[in-house]
Parts: sequence; structure tokens; C-alpha cells
Amino acid sequence: MESIPVMLISSDNASRSELKNDLEKFKYIDIVGEFDDLMEGFNFIINEKPSLVFIDVSSAPTVAIDAIEKINFQLRSCLVYAISNNTDPEFIIQVMRAGAREVFGKPVAQAEISSVLDKAKHLLKTSADSFTEGKIFTVFSNKGGIGKTTIATNLAVSLAELTKKRVALVDLNLQLGDVTTFLDLSPSYDIAYIVTQISRIDESFLIKTLEKYQEKELYVLADPPYLEQAEEITSEQIGTVLNALKSVFSYIVIDTSSAFDSKTISALDLSDDILLVSIVNLPSIRNAQRCLDLFERLDYPREKVKMVVNRYIENEEITVDDVEDALNHNVYWKIPNNYFTVMSAINRGMPICEINKDSNVNDSFFGLAAGLSNSLYVKDKDQNSSNSGNSIMASLLSKMNLPKGKK
Ligand SMILES: Nc1ncnc2c1ncn2[C@@H]1O[C@H](COP(=O)(O)OP(=O)(O)OP(=O)(O)O)[C@@H](O)[C@H]1O
Ligand SMILES: [Mg+2]
Repeated sequence: MESIPVMLISSDNASRSELKNDLEKFKYIDIVGEFDDLMEGFNFIINEKPSLVFIDVSSAPTVAIDAIEKINFQLRSCLVYAISNNTDPEFIIQVMRAGAREVFGKPVAQAEISSVLDKAKHLLKTSADSFTEGKIFTVFSNKGGIGKTTIATNLAVSLAELTKKRVALVDLNLQLGDVTTFLDLSPSYDIAYIVTQISRIDESFLIKTLEKYQEKELYVLADPPYLEQAEEITSEQIGTVLNALKSVFSYIVIDTSSAFDSKTISALDLSDDILLVSIVNLPSIRNAQRCLDLFERLDYPREKVKMVVNRYIENEEITVDDVEDALNHNVYWKIPNNYFTVMSAINRGMPICEINKDSNVNDSFFGLAAGLSNSLYVKDKDQNSSNSGNSIMASLLSKMNLPKGKK
């Protein structure tokens, strides 16, 4: 059977190594980390996502309970077990309410470990079958004015329409965000508020504080109104918020600035797919090459980076083949140039599907959403398609479940 990654946190070294020895008697247990410091252990858990965690809550109970609550919320499929010197029933209830599945006294008996592991094997199997975390798509380019916000906004709307699942659109262009302008929203809350409320983040909090877009399953997390607020947000906080969004939304679309700063990298790290946007001209292609080089240095898998050519015009001097050859990376998607439709959408603060749902550019966004979400998008038969054939390709590829554009 597959091994089960387990983490131990306890400042009581003797008890921790005893528990470790007992757990290692089970061949399928893989101790991926052991910490005496709660905060270090917590950060490791959030990044490494072990299946089982044992936390000693004896020495710093308040922090430990808080950590259990957050692990439980952010990593739903992780099972947390507590160990405690304190056997006061009130206290035990508190620990269980935070999300610990069981609380053991010290030392944990071998028979208890064995019974816990039996139950855990079963629970892990059922949760793997039933729960999948949301996917993060980040729209990025290190060049400004290339269409990132147009793509992020319309992709998010298309995903919500097409999949009918919950979608979050996050404006990580923290200093010069445009998402609220593109969708004509005046949100009550923004990301600067949410990061001050990290301990309160749960499903109902997120649904209440993100701005719902009309009747769609689309929720917007806006940039802060003041520049100083943007500066105060840390990349760790961005990571925490994005992980929280993953447990509530099926898709998270992130719009970014053109900066390669630590906040953007934190989002890029956590992304399932990076949509690297370029247009077909030399400076833009050169910039895309720089991004690809950096992504390689960051050890991102090749298929995580999807090239999107925006403002595509058939029969241009530089072809898509030329772009692919220059970058040694396939073009995943082409979005046609349609200045009139895109500008009317932006000027009216509406998504493209509400301006002209029959336009080639709207069709392209639905095709892109279908490809990324593995859903089917078939354009109405009676509509005369004027696009580049992207949507049919998306439907076919989504059915075959093959990665597109891999060289
Ligand atoms: N497919 C398209 N066809 C025609 N025009 C487009 C298309 N996509 C974007 N544009 C135009 O490009 C301009 C810039 O778009 P957008 O604001 O989305 O870029 P950005 O990369 O988010 O810019 P910034 O770096 O300032 O955030 C807009 O005025 C928009 O009209
Ligand atoms: Mg923008």
C-alpha cells in the first residue's frame, strides 16, 4: 500500500521520539517531519500537506488549539491527533472542537496507535475519494498592458458560467488593481481586510466578505484602496489566503501585476496553472522568454506554464509557430484581437459575454475555461463561428484529458 506521510510536533523530546519509534513500526508510515517548535511545524504542515499530524498541546495549549483549527480548515483531508498532559474534560472538548479527531494522554499506548492508524487508513481513502481542492490559475506577464486583467476577469466569468461551480477572482495587482473597474463593483471588503482576520477565515467568512458578482457563482477579492495597505500585506499572508480559498472555491483565478515580487511568486508557487500572456511582437516574446527561464529556475514543471497569445491576428508577419520555436514552448491558447468588443466591455464595466456573447473573443474565453476545467464547451450549432477553432480543440482535449501544447 502507499505510504502515509505523518508529522509530529512536540516540545517534549522524549515523548516525541517514543511516538516516532512506535509509529515507525508500521511499514506504511513515513515520518516526513518532526518539530519541537509549534510555529515551524505549522508552516511545514501547510506547505507539505501530510495526511496525519500528531500535535502535543500540553505546553502552549492556546496556540496549539489555534493551529489545529487552521490545519483543519486549510487542509481538509489532513487528520489531526492531539496529545496532552491535561485530561480535564473541558479542555479535551475544546481541542476536539478545534478539529482534533482524538486526544491521547502521555505516553500514547501502542494499542491506541494501532487502532488510530486503522481508522486513519479508512478515513484517508474516503476523503481522497470525495474531496478535491480548488485549482488556482494565475494570469501573469512581466509586461504591462498586455491583457492580464481582461483575461483573468473573463476567464473567471466563463468558468463560473460553464462549470456552475464556485469561482474566486483575486486581484493581486495590489497597487494598481483594475478588476473592480472591469466588473463595475464597489466591494465592501478587500484583501487588506481579510489578511487582518486570518484567524476568522472559514467558509462562511469568505463567502460573506468576497464580493458576489451578480447572480453568478463568482466571488471577487479586491485589491486594497490605499497603496500603504498593499505594502503591508506579506507574501506569507497571500499564501494563507490562497490556501484558504482552495478549500472553499473550485477555481481561483488570480490577476497579477507585472512585477516579479515575492507576493506574485507566492501566488505562482501555489498555482496549478500559470497562464503566461504574450502578444505576437518581439519585445513581448523576449519578455516571455525571461519568464520561462525564471520558471525553470523555480523548478516549475513545464506543463504548469501555459503560454497564452493575446490579441492574436491570423496571417501576421510573426506566426504562432515562430513564437513556439523562439520560446521552445507550445502555445496553449490564442485569444483573438477584438478591440471593439474588448474596449466596450471594459468601458462599460461588464464581462465580454454580456457585451457580445457571439463574438470570437467570448468564444475563446469559454474555450479556455473549458480546457482548464476539463469541461465541455460546444458553441451553439446555428452560430457561425468566426474563431480560430480553439473551442473545438478544448472540447476534444478535455475529453481525452491530455495536456495541450507540450513540446
Ligand atoms: N483580445 C484583445 N483584443 C483587443 N484588445 C485587447 C485584448 N485584450 C486586451 N486588450 C486591450 O489591451 C488593453 C490592456 O488590457 P489589460 O488592462 O487587460 O492589460 P493588463 O496586462 O492587465 O495591464 P496592466 O499591466 O496595466 O495591469 C485594454 O485596453 C484592452 O482593451
Ligand atoms: Mg491589469
